Amino acid sequence: MTRIAVMVSGGGTNLQAIMDAIRDGRITGAQLVSVVASKEGVYALERAKNFGVPGVVIARRDFDSQEAFDQALLQHMQENQIDLIVLAGYLSILSEAVTHQYANRIINIHPALIPSFCGPGHYGLHVHEKALEYGVKVTGATVHFVNEVVDGGAIILQKAVEVRDGDTPESLQLRVMQQAEWELLPRAIDLFCNGKLRIEGRRVHIIE
Ligand code: GRF
Repeated sequence: MTRIAVMVSGGGTNLQAIMDAIRDGRITGAQLVSVVASKEGVYALERAKNFGVPGVVIARRDFDSQEAFDQALLQHMQENQIDLIVLAGYLSILSEAVTHQYANRIINIHPALIPSFCGPGHYGLHVHEKALEYGVKVTGATVHFVNEVVDGGAIILQKAVEVRDGDTPESLQLRVMQQAEWELLPRAIDLFCNGKLRIEGRRVHIIE
């Protein structure tokens, strides 16, 4: 059984998609052990509570240094014997101390087709604003392993979503969530938990 911690910063719709998939059997071999929020009061913590998963806040602002924050986060993961960390709308950047400790055991959902519209400053609605500004006809979502480069880890799954005339950042974000994020993230977690991902350099092979 793969012990999972999901890290969140906002509404938690991706967390909800994971919990629904566990409940419906679309994710097997997984135990959702902990939800870690980057700040108090985010609705994702309510969603965790409703699902019966312990939620905790580990906020960078509560620590004197990045090192102290990293230590607290790593201690939480080790105490809970976490095997896989999932970033689901988590808006802070993990330091190398964490990404090295959990090499190829942290996955993230990014609301664009990496390497487009990614990297520092590309999060939340900003990603869709950039896509609309550029005038792309297709965008989508990417699930990838997390390494020391922001949005730079090996890609696990991607799915394209059409951009429609008259789209706003909000309408595009919702379509990308509905048609891509909420499908890809649970699927990637199920593949990981069932040993179906084989990493060779930058390529991730899916063993069907
Ligand atoms: C959304 O912008 C989503 O595209 C990205 O994180 C943000 C919040 O997601 N992955 P969530 O509703 O908190 O899962």
